[in-house]
Amino acid sequence: MRPSLSAATTQTCAPEPRCALRTVRTIAELRSELEPGRVAGATIGLVPTMGALHQGHLSLIEAARLRCDFVVVTLFVNPTQFDEQSDLLAYPRDEEQDAVLAARAGADLLFAPSPDEIYKRGFASSVEVHGLTDRLEGAMRGKDHFRGVTTVVCKLLNIARPDIAYFGQKDAQQAAVIRRLVIDLDMEVQIETMPILREPDGLAMSSRNVRLSETEREQALALYAALCAAQHLAAAGERSSQRLIEQARQVLTSYDVQPEYVALVDQESFEELDRVDAVGLMLIAARVGQTRLIDNLALWVAEQSLSQ
Ligand code: PAJ
Repeated sequence: MRPSLSAATTQTCAPEPRCALRTVRTIAELRSELEPGRVAGATIGLVPTMGALHQGHLSLIEAARLRCDFVVVTLFVNPTQFDEQSDLLAYPRDEEQDAVLAARAGADLLFAPSPDEIYKRGFASSVEVHGLTDRLEGAMRGKDHFRGVTTVVCKLLNIARPDIAYFGQKDAQQAAVIRRLVIDLDMEVQIETMPILREPDGLAMSSRNVRLSETEREQALALYAALCAAQHLAAAGERSSQRLIEQARQVLTSYDVQPEYVALVDQESFEELDRVDAVGLMLIAARVGQTRLIDNLALWVAEQSLSQ
């Protein structure tokens, strides 16, 4: 039984296909929705998203539903984390559909603020995680990207004050940065990082996949194929990062995909590994046509190693 939070949120959502979620747009409204439940001891789960929800997002909502009494999904296309204005403008938006999907996945409330509500007149602060954000996505997309992410996530956590917040391993570096952020700033929230959801052919689900043409969609399989090839080699006992990366690069080339990076790093610090002792995280970023894709896979090395 989920405890009710307030009269406004006790409406039942019949399992009919177009039953959308209640949406609030201001910080004050969200706080007053959550307060009674918080006082009553309800566990609050937060799933931050930029909308255009797909099964990957929905898996986070479903995970939150299983553990939390009240699940808030945020839908905010955060302008400060986009390094390219064209990407921001082209970002897919469909709030009506998102509300239906989020309700079906078990969310209780949607928080969809305007940019002016989040960045009020005179807004002048930012939150930054150093070191971890310099590499890979930080290096490719510029410093502002992660600063935008950490600032908005910090704000969303302060606004909703959830017990648990859910993020996807799809954005592995982002999840690691957020884990670091909440430790460093003593924020009282548990961060759950959930596995990557993939299409049946292995492509990691992403809001950007809709932009791929038919041929690009085929080419996009290169990323997961490259990760799997490296995983096979690791499972056979290869420990050398150079050779594992080389294997992945060869597969990418066979699909005619030039990566922005192929890296093998420690899962928490994101420092590059020379060799993999037990497990390393391989990450790939590549542009397929105009669409920038990222993917990653943990590589487990067999106990019997090929290279010492
Ligand atoms: P967005 O890209 O909408 O992603 C929201 C959450 O869904 C992120 O935690 C992301 O890692 C997760 N996600 C995306 N694709 C996934 C997949 N295939 N499997 C599992 N999880 C997946 O990431 C952001 O938004 C923003 O940076 C945000 C954290 C909301 C801050 O603005």
